[in-house]
Amino acid sequence: MARHLITSAIPYINGIKHLGNLVGSQLPADLYARYQRTRGHEVLFLCATDEHGTPAELAAAKAGEPVAEYCARMHGVQTEIAKGFRLSFDHFGRSSSPQNHRLTQHFAGRLAEAGMIREVVEKQVYSNADKRFLPDRYIEGICPNCGYDKARGDQCENCTKQLDPTDLIEPRSAISGSTDLEVRETKHLYLGQSGMRGRLNDWIDSKGDWPVLTTSIARKWLNDGDGLQDRGITRDLDWGIPVKKGADDWPGMEGKVFYVWFDAPIEYIACAGEWAEAQGLSEGEWERWWRTDKGADDVRYTQFMGKDNVPFHTLSFPATILGSGEDWKLVDYIKSFNYLNYDGGQFSTSQGRGVFMDQALEILPADYWRWWLLSHAPESSDSEFTWENFQVSVNKDLADVLGNFVSRVTKFCRSKFGEEVPGGGGFGAREEALIATLTERVRAYEGHMEAMEVRKSAQELRAIWVAGNEYLQEAAPWSTFKEDPEAAAAQIRLALNLIRLYAVLSAPFIPDASEAMLAAMKTDDSGWPNDVAAALGALPEGHDFQVPEVLFAKISDEGREDWQERFSGVRDG
Ligand code: 2FM
Ligand code: ZN
Repeated sequence: MARHLITSAIPYINGIKHLGNLVGSQLPADLYARYQRTRGHEVLFLCATDEHGTPAELAAAKAGEPVAEYCARMHGVQTEIAKGFRLSFDHFGRSSSPQNHRLTQHFAGRLAEAGMIREVVEKQVYSNADKRFLPDRYIEGICPNCGYDKARGDQCENCTKQLDPTDLIEPRSAISGSTDLEVRETKHLYLGQSGMRGRLNDWIDSKGDWPVLTTSIARKWLNDGDGLQDRGITRDLDWGIPVKKGADDWPGMEGKVFYVWFDAPIEYIACAGEWAEAQGLSEGEWERWWRTDKGADDVRYTQFMGKDNVPFHTLSFPATILGSGEDWKLVDYIKSFNYLNYDGGQFSTSQGRGVFMDQALEILPADYWRWWLLSHAPESSDSEFTWENFQVSVNKDLADVLGNFVSRVTKFCRSKFGEEVPGGGGFGAREEALIATLTERVRAYEGHMEAMEVRKSAQELRAIWVAGNEYLQEAAPWSTFKEDPEAAAAQIRLALNLIRLYAVLSAPFIPDASEAMLAAMKTDDSGWPNDVAAALGALPEGHDFQVPEVLFAKISDEGREDWQERFSGVRDG
């Protein structure tokens, strides 16, 4: 049994995420976590809300709520939506947790002791209209790298370049829009990550099996002149983790907090502590996932994220971990994603464009979305959501191929043999051929799932569903029945067992439908088909079943047009 630590990039607390965010991290991470659990491995799957910094402060101000209350409320909202999408986190934590406060301050202390932190009196943008410094997202302007005109002070959303507010061209306050800005001096802590270029380079070089998307972004920023420059890890903000050196005050840094991108990845670790606390477990229980000196040596750690997050996870966070000189686990594999676009443009939280997670669940159950999003995951390039494509996928793959198979087999059996698995004789050449095909395909499916090739996994799963349909079409038990009811019984016995097999194989993609199939087959045997032939004998003659409700309803043209219209505008973020 292997041990898998799996984390999804932690979504900002400000508002509800859109489907592009979902498919870029949480959903594929869930697919992988579910798969590894199904294969009998020990999994710790963690996610949290990213609650500090300007995104949280700005959103709370817009909502007219104190920021702590806003974060607590939105954490509840995001928790419920995650449940709605069946995201099977072992813990959904909060970067504002006491555990993360302690750990972030601890890392800063260790880095200081290791001589990795220096104090810098620097020039920061100050807004006279707002009477405050404008770090990160409090300031917007033109990206010096690509010319995008809504670049934020911390990063350009368009070209992913990490920025400093003073880099922006024609800067303006994101609070008031004021351009009455001046540059003032303020003291901050800088993480000396430039000195780690060699170590980081070697580390990335050793990851030959990583997706090209991940390594190409990492190398680009590593080798780019200023990609790995020392970066400020503190801010002049009220909300955040107070700057301390471990448990001690940091003279001269009173009233300042750590930068959100410093404490957010540390939450991956702190979240394990939150999980242990919530489960009533000892410290040692979470440390065995994270401390290589306390048992985490045999843990395989996989991170999932959108491409804009790659620089922080391949450079800044590893620099923090390595720089601490302590025995923390480093990530083993980073699966990153391109962007999902929406109907000819970009999904955008700030502009309220696209379909948001709560809206998606209002119109259709989670499985419909999970299937489409995963089978169209933006792996090798950006991909696009269109309502037409969504309708075709749902109707063909889910309703025609899978749903129809389940419905035909169970209804035919009920009408000819009753609601129990019929007997019939042994299998003939056609059945043996099907078993051989399925064995090959199931092995291929396992290979793709292990490799986190999400689209290929979906294609293989669909091919497995199709193989059953083709078998049914050729065997035609409804015709066989007229001449040879025994042979028809054996065909249907096989087909009912296929439904159980499909439930098991499909569970990581469409967990609700999988559960409904197992319930209809009145079994809780969800054992993985290591031996496909044996798995197709799991439900013996005489085993009860029931005809399930329709698994997937088709999307009509009118329904599709209605949604297309409803989601064509923008919503107030
Ligand atoms: O891009 C985002 O949504 C960030 N909140 C991701 C943070 S991931 C991590 F490092 F914690
Ligand atoms: Zn840019």
